[in-house]
Formats: sequence, C-alpha cells, structure tokens
Amino acid sequence: MISYMHKIVAVLLLSVAVLAGKAQAPAGSAAQPLSVQHGKQIFMQRCMQCHSVNKGQVLLGPSLFGEMTTSPHKKTAAQIRVLLRDGKGKMPSWKEILTPDDIDNILLYLHTL
Ligand code: HEC
Repeated sequence: MISYMHKIVAVLLLSVAVLAGKAQAPAGSAAQPLSVQHGKQIFMQRCMQCHSVNKGQVLLGPSLFGEMTTSPHKKTAAQIRVLLRDGKGKMPSWKEILTPDDIDNILLYLHTL
C-alpha cells in the first residue's frame, strides 16, 4: 500500500513538472527563431523564379550559388541588404515585402549555398 502511494505521488509530481514546462513555452504566435530552413522557404517563394542556386545557371537574374562564399561576385551581408532594400535593374525592391527577420533568414540560407 505504501509503495502504491509513492507511485501516485511520483506521477503527480511528474505531471506538475510537465505542466510547468508547458507554461514556460513561448506563445504560439511568437516570432520564429531565425533558421536556414525558414530562409530557404522564403527563398523558394520569393527569389527562385529569378535565381537558381545551381552553379552558373542564369535565369532572369544570376545564380546565387556561392553568392556569399565562393562566387567571383561574392557579396557581404551588408551589400546584399542594400540590394534587397533598393532593388537593382530588373530586380524589384523588397523593402515593403520582406521583414528584417525574413532578410536575416535569407542571409543564413545564402551562406549555405
Ligand atoms: C523578378 C526577378 C527577381 C526576383 C524575384 C529576385 N531577383 Fe535578385 N536579381 C534579379 C536580377 C535581374 C539581378 C541582377 C541585377 C543587375 O545586376 O542588374 C538580381 C541580383 C541579385 C543579387 C546580386 C547578384 C550578383 O550580381 O552578385 C542578389 C544577391 C539577389 N538578386 C538576391 C535576391 C533575393 C535574395 C531575392 C528574393 C528575396 C531575389 N533576388 C529576387 C532578379 C530578381
């Protein structure tokens, strides 16, 4: 009987711990943490119709393969932020469309290309 009581107490303590953990989780609508994966999703929605990520494949714009790492026209994050804000040639400005978080996510993704 005593060990049975112990089990019940242990289960109760465990549920309290689980509920406390849930209460600390961020609210559902809170901003997502920055991630390469999220950057890739935005890229696929907004950029891929004009930019390939395959080496040398030109669509309406140049391929962004190695854009921040190995390309001969390699660019820094600061340069890319200006490009996205102002647009260039046939590329529209993104400043009304992308949030600062969107751009940070895209930059994380571009680093992986
Ligand atoms: C409507 C087509 C179009 C879309 C959509 C587009 N771009 Fe572009 N982008 C271009 C063109 C065209 C250029 C070349 C501009 C020039 O040099 O005249 C370019 C240039 C660039 C460059 C500089 C490339 C270099 O020369 O080093 C970057 C970086 C870039 N775009 C990123 C993006 C990102 C990120 C997105 C998505 C948010 C995006 N672009 C969406 C057409 C587009």
